[in-house]
Amino acid sequence: MKILVVGGGGREHAIVKKLKENQTITELYCLPGNGGIAADAVCVPIAATDLDGIVSFAREHQIDYAVVAPDDPLALGAVDRLEAVGVPCFGPRKDAAVIEASKVFAKDLMKRYGIPTARYESFDSLDAALAYLQTAPMPIVVKADGLALGKGVIIAQTLREAEEAVRAMMTEKRFGKSGERLVIEEFLEGPEVSVLSFTDGKTIVPMVSSMDHKRVGEGNVGPNTGGMGTVAPNPYYTPELAKRCMDEIFLPTIRAMAQEGRSFKGCLYFGLVLTKDGPKVIEYNCRFGDPETQVVLPLLQSDLLTVMQAVTEERLAECPVRFSTDSAACVIMASKGYPGAYEKGLPITIPAELQAQVYVAGAKENNGSLVTAGGRVLGVTALGKDLPEALERAYKAVKQVHFENAYYRRDIGALALAAKEG
Ligand code: AMP
Ligand code: GLY
Repeated sequence: MKILVVGGGGREHAIVKKLKENQTITELYCLPGNGGIAADAVCVPIAATDLDGIVSFAREHQIDYAVVAPDDPLALGAVDRLEAVGVPCFGPRKDAAVIEASKVFAKDLMKRYGIPTARYESFDSLDAALAYLQTAPMPIVVKADGLALGKGVIIAQTLREAEEAVRAMMTEKRFGKSGERLVIEEFLEGPEVSVLSFTDGKTIVPMVSSMDHKRVGEGNVGPNTGGMGTVAPNPYYTPELAKRCMDEIFLPTIRAMAQEGRSFKGCLYFGLVLTKDGPKVIEYNCRFGDPETQVVLPLLQSDLLTVMQAVTEERLAECPVRFSTDSAACVIMASKGYPGAYEKGLPITIPAELQAQVYVAGAKENNGSLVTAGGRVLGVTALGKDLPEALERAYKAVKQVHFENAYYRRDIGALALAAKEG
């Protein structure tokens, strides 16, 4: 089998690594991939959003199956384009990817189908949004409608901050077209859980739960990032909650999408807050999470390609999907300064013998060695029989990996461990 993975970050490295366990794969390509993924797949410098380039490549290389991992190509219709030339894909079509690409769509869907989420209003006029804020309780959450690299969400503590956020999005167009419409919603309190799931539009199989750490600073302070580390499973997500989420959120969501004529096939990601009134959705993603994938896929015991093909062919109900009962922890090593400005081109050394897996997110090859090339550089993942063991191994490995000005949070998993104790 000739397989193509679209994307080039730590998530794609984890997907590539897992796919490689399948012995029927003879050729594995990653577009564009990166300097680290190049050790596991043939990386070709075609951007993930260059749909013409991706389609021509797939035809030229007679690709048998494609996995489209990032949100942008999915929202642009990469799956529709590849399917049109006969390449079966893992990932939703454009009309289903809208569940992530438009927050207004997602919120309206949840309202119409009674799926629990934060109360909200959507706006496409500045005056109406500002007027609404005058009577809204604080804190409040302002979200740009479209994709904004995870940065289009502002949690405003005061009326002034909320007004600034609305103006930044609607008047200054800080997120371009993504901010022309926005959602203003109730602030939800409680532990967050990420649940990635496989779904073929009829059956939904949740993967092991996880917890992201979005803020840059220890103790969950500072600006939001793409994610500074993850643990799995998430101890707040009990079997009782999992059952409730299946009945109240997961099944209703895939049924709603089918009802709307937007049947969702691929990985559907549920970002949940466990409030005192029960689990509520704060976001849907139409793809694997990053860095959730770096802890979830290493725990998958079933063959990933087999499960993905069952999704594509709508046979998921017959396909066993098994996860290990071990724990996993991923610590992101970032460039100092991220999510602001940072230096690039610093040499990275990764010892050959590590009790961990290093997923490469932002690095490129330079004269035969690996150098930093992004904000999030590496994701160091370790497994263990329980969370303390996984964390200990991950942090031990982090100390053995080196690049100048590496920054990482030392408290990944701390909140999860507190749940276990409490
Ligand atoms: P999103 O881009 O929608 O994932 O939002 C980024 C982060 O902002 C989430 O992971 C939450 O930590 C936070 N967030 C988003 N919406 C809410 C909300 N309604 N209440 C509390 N926190 C939120
Ligand atoms: N880690 C959150 C996301 O992938 O959106």
